[in-house]
Amino acid sequence: MYENVFSALQIILKPFFYFYATLIATLTMNYTLITGASKGIGKAVAFEAADRKMNLLLVARSKDLLEQLASELSTKNVSVKTFVADLLEDDAPKKIFQFAKENSLNVNMLINNAGAALYGNFEDADFQKNLNVMKLNVDACVKMAYEFLKQTDASQRRYILNTVSLGAYQPLPTMAIYASSKAFMLFFSRALRQELKPKNVYVTALCPGGVETEFFVPAGLGKVVEKNARYMMGADRVAKEGLDALMKNKSVVIPGFINKMTALVSKLFPHDIVVPVAGNVYKT
Ligand SMILES: NC(=O)c1ccc[n+]([C@@H]2O[C@H](COP(=O)([O-])OP(=O)(O)OC[C@H]3O[C@@H](n4cnc5c(N)ncnc54)[C@H](OP(=O)(O)O)[C@@H]3O)[C@@H](O)[C@H]2O)c1
Repeated sequence: MYENVFSALQIILKPFFYFYATLIATLTMNYTLITGASKGIGKAVAFEAADRKMNLLLVARSKDLLEQLASELSTKNVSVKTFVADLLEDDAPKKIFQFAKENSLNVNMLINNAGAALYGNFEDADFQKNLNVMKLNVDACVKMAYEFLKQTDASQRRYILNTVSLGAYQPLPTMAIYASSKAFMLFFSRALRQELKPKNVYVTALCPGGVETEFFVPAGLGKVVEKNARYMMGADRVAKEGLDALMKNKSVVIPGFINKMTALVSKLFPHDIVVPVAGNVYKT
């Protein structure tokens, strides 16, 4: 009698078992591509994604840091690949997706995160460095999004998380290029999201305020950070809120209550009022 019940159960459950096994196999073949994964927010997203059992393709310039991170993540039972690339090189995005194709990595999620800033009055700052900020924060991100859409399987659900910034909400004196590049990315994200809705592509803009990373050192923002240290947030929280928002298909996520209020004020008040106040925050 028990044998009969057991075989009946086997027959009933077999199709479900195969369905879930195939689903899990398909899901586990997917890869999340993270740019700027060697440090800061990108690294935190890598840990958060690995905890969610997402396979990873990590991109940055620092080979050693990427390899170290891959080995740290190896305990989490996910596949981790690394690709060293300087996104200031024009053909880097193409090469990254070529690598993914050659290695049969089915990239279904792009975390467009690598970015930089430069502090100082536009007129006095190193002009080439400012051009590089624009190139990394805008050109490289746009190219990565384009290659992602063109080179990955359009029959599946796909995801793009753009790491933007609270700086996107108002012009920032002494950070004119950075804030403008992030404003571009916020508009780009929102427009892309609308265009891609019928194509099953989720697009989310992650807009953190100050985050405790190494970002401020090369940007020359050390003193600004000292002044605003109490408003800084951990990268782990930003990564978690970013991925949560992406999975829920939110258009924008601003981690933290004060940051949300700051964005709201920047939207409600005219720029003639907001810009001098913002300039004061960045005065050293
Ligand atoms: N920290 C903040 O307060 C804050 C706030 C709002 C938004 N954001 C945004 O968050 C993103 C990540 O910043 P973060 O704070 O994590 O900074 P971070 O700690 O300095 O990390 C930046 C990442 O970008 C990579 N990167 C820089 N230049 C690159 C290039 N030319 N080619 C390839 N990779 C490059 C770096 O890796 P390698 O050096 O190894 O190449 C690193 O992994 C940026 O887009 C930034 O604008 C940061």
